[in-house]
Amino acid sequence: MPDITTEVLIIGTGPAGSTSAALLSSYGVDNVVINRYHWLANTPRAHITNQRTMEVLRDLGREVEDEVYLNAMDQSLMGENVFCESLAGEEIGRMKSWGTHPLSKAEHLLSSPTFMNDLPQTFMEPILFKTACKRGTRARMSTEYISHLQDDEGVTTTCLDRLTGKELTIRSKYLIGADGGKSLVAENEDLPFEGNMGVGGSMNIYFRADLSKYVAHRPSVLYWVMQPGANVGGIGMGLVRCIRPWNEWLIVWGYDINEPAPEVDEAMATDVARQLVGDPELEIDLISANTWTVNDTYATEMSKGRVFIMGDAAHRHPPSNGLGSNTSIQDAFNLAWKMAAVVKGEAGEALLDSYTVERAPVAKQIVTRANQSIAEFGPIFEALGMTGGTEIEQIKANMDARCDATPDAEEQRDALNTAIAFKKYEFDAHGVEMNQRYTSNATVTDGQIEPDFALDADLHYQPTTWPGARIPHAWLFDEDGAKHSTLDLAGGGVFTIFTGLGGRTWADAARDVGEKLGIKIRAHVIGPRQQYVDHTGDWARAREVGDAGCILTRPDQHVCWRKDGTAEDPVLELTRVLTAILAR
Ligand code: FDA
Repeated sequence: MPDITTEVLIIGTGPAGSTSAALLSSYGVDNVVINRYHWLANTPRAHITNQRTMEVLRDLGREVEDEVYLNAMDQSLMGENVFCESLAGEEIGRMKSWGTHPLSKAEHLLSSPTFMNDLPQTFMEPILFKTACKRGTRARMSTEYISHLQDDEGVTTTCLDRLTGKELTIRSKYLIGADGGKSLVAENEDLPFEGNMGVGGSMNIYFRADLSKYVAHRPSVLYWVMQPGANVGGIGMGLVRCIRPWNEWLIVWGYDINEPAPEVDEAMATDVARQLVGDPELEIDLISANTWTVNDTYATEMSKGRVFIMGDAAHRHPPSNGLGSNTSIQDAFNLAWKMAAVVKGEAGEALLDSYTVERAPVAKQIVTRANQSIAEFGPIFEALGMTGGTEIEQIKANMDARCDATPDAEEQRDALNTAIAFKKYEFDAHGVEMNQRYTSNATVTDGQIEPDFALDADLHYQPTTWPGARIPHAWLFDEDGAKHSTLDLAGGGVFTIFTGLGGRTWADAARDVGEKLGIKIRAHVIGPRQQYVDHTGDWARAREVGDAGCILTRPDQHVCWRKDGTAEDPVLELTRVLTAILAR
């Protein structure tokens, strides 16, 4: 007899595990989450929180979204991405980042009802975990996953209760391995990976010090320090990252991965901080220090039978572009509704196959992007003359040369400007964050061709209602004039139909098909004197189908089918589509 029985067991209370738990509980699915430690993240690793993640949190409830904004550093403070010799020293360059450039800001505002922000993981995890527990998740801390065995009916997982030292078995229908970059679940299930672990070494130095005088006039979350003679790891660059403005900081500094990881004691941490801040007298209050490795690997299969992996368990990469926790939360959004539908008997198990089909390409994309972003610092080093040797005086002379009034120096300055501007692929890559489109059995295109990207797909989000894409955001208005995003009308754990006044038959069909299939389908007829009105015409321009057409969204707000106009038999059409998507 197992000690505990549940529908879904989740290993890990990080962003992936806690979001899965919060969503499953919101959908009414019994779940247990475990963590080998007694509490949540104790270092502020992830921080950049993008709009798509905020949409997931908004879908969990306005109180969740609001708590994030309350604790986060506002987007307006995120964006003066500075390159300098030290915080006290000469500034080398700067670029507007994270949606704060006026053009990018407009794109952000047009794309989503949410705002990018900077929320350290130490704040994010408690919000997600609390939401999960409040809504019914049973959490067990100090409980370590050891192994699992799956059969036709479910999974039996063996854990170690670290409080008693005793073994514990948990029986579940499904197992989610959200157990981070050293995932034992992925290893035990022998899931296939491509790429390499440990391609670089980094250390985190987490400390308190008031650095206002160096930064408050150029607010940013990231300050990149390029120094000749940077001797740890030889990468010539350190990162001073703001945790709380402007008195809590995290320095990220490299070490040579071919050497043993250094012991970062208080003396070493103080030395590094003094060097990067450029103040030999600086006193820091060291909170903690640790080392970590840069990884470049992703799972090509994110599930096997009843076992699923997500987050860092499936995609392991450097923090560049700030994609890790964001993608982890978005993995959970993809899987949770599918698992809920299967557990409740609303969908066949084959629906779960679409998880790996839809998310494994995203895992590959973000791991590739994050590692490429590290490589794209190269042209900055080259323009500064920091490559081609370790001779400090020579590097210093090369860097100084850009200040001359010569054609060579002008060329050097141009090269530096170009190299820095190119870093928008890391620091302002809205498309990478927002453009995920799925092709799987959980979408039905009826042969409609995927639209090409008119602009660079890494930099610019392109809205479309092509099945597989997330529903475009447009503001609609209720009878009091209050505004609601189309994303607010979708989601919430159910399928939703959007149609216009000419498409009432779709709304009627939604009710009939919902009753027939035993699922809830929400329907919105959008138009004058309806519950939601498109006063601006933005939705009419975005929907890519006519007024009598129909757009069907999944609980994760992705369009799964659309039709331009009415159908001879809308009930038959909707039944065909939903039985296909739900694998019935
Ligand atoms: P995560 O590692 O967070 O959680 C794993 C969980 O599993 C933990 O609760 C752990 O205790 C538990 N666990 C592991 N093994 C277990 C076992 N055997 N039994 C029980 N429990 C077990 N991302 C981002 O989106 N934006 C950003 O700006 C940054 N910035 C950033 C900076 C730095 C310096 C780092 C190092 C990382 C980032 N990241 C990031 C990445 C981000 O931190 C990372 O992607 C997420 O934490 C991944 O979340 P997961 O939930 O997948 O794993």
